[in-house]
Amino acid sequence: MPLFEQPAWVTERREEIERIIGQYPDRRSALMPLLHLAQEVRGYVADEDIAAVADLLGLTQAYVESVCSFYSMYHRHPVGKYHIVFCNNCSCALMGGERLREYLKQKLGIESGQTTPDGLISLEITHECLAACDAGPVLQVNGEYVIRLTEEKIDALIEDLRSGKGPEAHIEKRLLTGHFWDADPNDLPKVPPEIAAAEAAAVPAEGTSAPAAEAATAPAEGARAVEAPAAPAGPEAPQESPGAGKEGGDQ
Ligand code: FES
Repeated sequence: MPLFEQPAWVTERREEIERIIGQYPDRRSALMPLLHLAQEVRGYVADEDIAAVADLLGLTQAYVESVCSFYSMYHRHPVGKYHIVFCNNCSCALMGGERLREYLKQKLGIESGQTTPDGLISLEITHECLAACDAGPVLQVNGEYVIRLTEEKIDALIEDLRSGKGPEAHIEKRLLTGHFWDADPNDLPKVPPEIAAAEAAAVPAEGTSAPAAEAATAPAEGARAVEAPAAPAGPEAPQESPGAGKEGGDQ
């Protein structure tokens, strides 16, 4: 029995909570989706949300807090109805992002970390890449991408936010967008065929371990070794602790 008053969303969204948890072999893996759910309901993650998620997943509040504070896509304080994150990293900056950053700040009349006086729009300038360098300059509105920014695109976006239309007409769905865990797979953006083929070719055939594959290509004993180009590094193993270095920082 929890020693705190549970937030209403724990009861009201029970079915959804169970479905999210059911997607993982270990319920603790549902931590980040549940933090997203809490934030979706309240607009930010409050202390009682931290406690509720910890209770739902059998984690300590300290652990949940450490994950929540590690990723700045979670807000621990109220933000505007629309939270804009503007990418200030290299690729976007090289493609005109710096000028557009200043343009956006001027248009909104606020600095990074501030919210417009009407509470409608918050702005966050991030120095972390938003993982859409191919489409820069980019920003995100409530976690969804607006890409290939121009002054005209910014004007149209802000006008639609202020008029109540919302950002939908400007959003570009991308695979890294944060809310795909409950989407219909048929609605997801498709991986381009050439990338899917390259990924499939990179997966070792069933029953072939990586060392075995290496052995199969190793020169026979006594044969002259031929210097091969270094293989590209594989993905790093996931880290056990969420506090080991600031990841992404912003989104
Ligand atoms: S640098 Fe902006 S998305 Fe990567």
